Amino acid sequence: MSLKSLSLFSFPFIALCFTVANAATFNIRNNCPYTVWAAAVPGGGRQLDGGGTWDINVNPGTTGARIWGRTNCQFDGAGRGGCQTGDCGGLLQCQAYGAPPNTLAEFALNQFNNLDFFDISLVDGFNVPMEFSPTSGSCSRGIRCVADIIGQCPNELKAPGGCNNPCTVYKTDQYCCNSGTCSATDLSRFFKERGLAVNNFSGTLPPELGKLVNLEQLDIESCGLGGEIPLTFANLENLQKVRASDNAFTGKIPDFVGNNWTKLTSLRFEGNSFEGPIPSSLANLASLTSLILRNVLLTGILPSYITELHSLKRLDLSFNNLTGTIPSDMFMMGSLKYLFLGNNGLSGPIPNRTREILITMNLVGNNFTLNSSNIRLLPGLECLQRSFPCSRAAPRCTS
Ligand SMILES: *[C@@H]1O[C@H](CO)[C@@H](O)[C@H](O)[C@H]1NC(C)=O
Ligand SMILES: *[C@@H]1O[C@H](CO)[C@@H](O)[C@H](O)[C@H]1NC(C)=O
Ligand SMILES: *[C@@H]1O[C@H](CO)[C@@H](O)[C@H](O)[C@H]1NC(C)=O
Ligand SMILES: *[C@@H]1O[C@H](CO)[C@@H](O)[C@H](O)[C@H]1NC(C)=O
Ligand SMILES: *[C@@H]1O[C@H](CO)[C@@H](O)[C@H](O)[C@H]1NC(C)=O
Ligand SMILES: *[C@@H]1O[C@H](CO)[C@@H](O)[C@H](O)[C@H]1NC(C)=O
Repeated sequence: MSLKSLSLFSFPFIALCFTVANAATFNIRNNCPYTVWAAAVPGGGRQLDGGGTWDINVNPGTTGARIWGRTNCQFDGAGRGGCQTGDCGGLLQCQAYGAPPNTLAEFALNQFNNLDFFDISLVDGFNVPMEFSPTSGSCSRGIRCVADIIGQCPNELKAPGGCNNPCTVYKTDQYCCNSGTCSATDLSRFFKERGLAVNNFSGTLPPELGKLVNLEQLDIESCGLGGEIPLTFANLENLQKVRASDNAFTGKIPDFVGNNWTKLTSLRFEGNSFEGPIPSSLANLASLTSLILRNVLLTGILPSYITELHSLKRLDLSFNNLTGTIPSDMFMMGSLKYLFLGNNGLSGPIPNRTREILITMNLVGNNFTLNSSNIRLLPGLECLQRSFPCSRAAPRCTS
């Protein structure tokens, strides 16, 4: 699937993962209680009653491959007949793609760096829920599309046995986005939080993804991605959740994260190779409940504006090289429940007052000026540093 068709639906949720493989075996299983006629190109087709399975082997280097399900089929002994959804020219053994609507699993083997790419796409609409997961290799995350898309399908998109893609129904540029510059429609918004896609990404994030202006979730955890986050991502102003942990992103955390991703509720960047300070733009993220910048090589001070993020429940800035003092009202933040500032270069006094809501705090591995009679009063503080006792019976961490 090209990036162009991805923007067609403005999928709000992107998951991607890569594995290294040679020839591949796909285990297809019908987890639905009803019969589904599985189809694959390459591969053919097979009737699968509830719980039935079918394995296909696919040659190395195969691209543009699809696996999908067909429903309400009837075939004669020669494998000729037809299906209500996903039909491929009336053949049980498909040689061509199916007719919409059908949910698609797509893959390409041995692409860049010998990586495999896979996704679930609603570019041809939806007929059956689907899950697509690696069973071996370094990528353990699967993807699924199991939302009740048929039940909630807008009337104009309803089709027997499924829910059509608006492009299939209207065939206009507004819905098909053939020009490459098009915006979301009410119908494409229908797929918000229901669809998902993966794409052919190599080592860096493709700048084209910045066109997915309706994207609400970006999930690119542990995907071997690196380089800087492209400037085009400033356009993703509807992002609410970003999980980009455990990659190798470099450069400063871009200012647009705070300036343009203003709807963010959760930002997880831990385990990357960023540099420089925490950008002051993060002060704009009033809806942020979770900010995880653990182990991302940050330097500079712990900015006092952090304490103005009134929705923040979880803040993890541990394992960086932050210096300076803890802002005096940090432990008084209205919503903050979990605070992790361990293993930095913080110094100075530790604020001696805290809200009861702050239930877990870890400040281990810094260089604070300690006042033990104060510290013991801090209820959330589990442990601080080796020379100082934890306030709870069993220390959970050491330095
Ligand atoms: C993956 O993307 C590259 C460009 O970034 C392109 O050359 C290649 O053909 C694409 N592969 C597939 C399977 O789409
Ligand atoms: C990002 O936000 C800044 C400041 O609000 C604005 O000037 C800029 O145009 C925005 N960029 C994009 C790509 O929307
Ligand atoms: C941490 O920051 C201090 C002050 O900027 C610097 O001297 C030190 O080398 C840094 N340590 C690491 C591990 O980067
Ligand atoms: C907290 O510390 C300040 C000085 O840093 C001190 O004036 C105040 O009495 C302390 N409060 C408590 C409850 O120990
Ligand atoms: C810890 O702080 C003290 C001053 O409070 C300073 O003398 C010392 O060098 C600091 N140690 C480190 C490792 O930064
Ligand atoms: C530690 O804090 C207590 C209570 O606020 C205060 O009485 C004491 O003087 C402080 N000790 C030092 C060394 O600052």
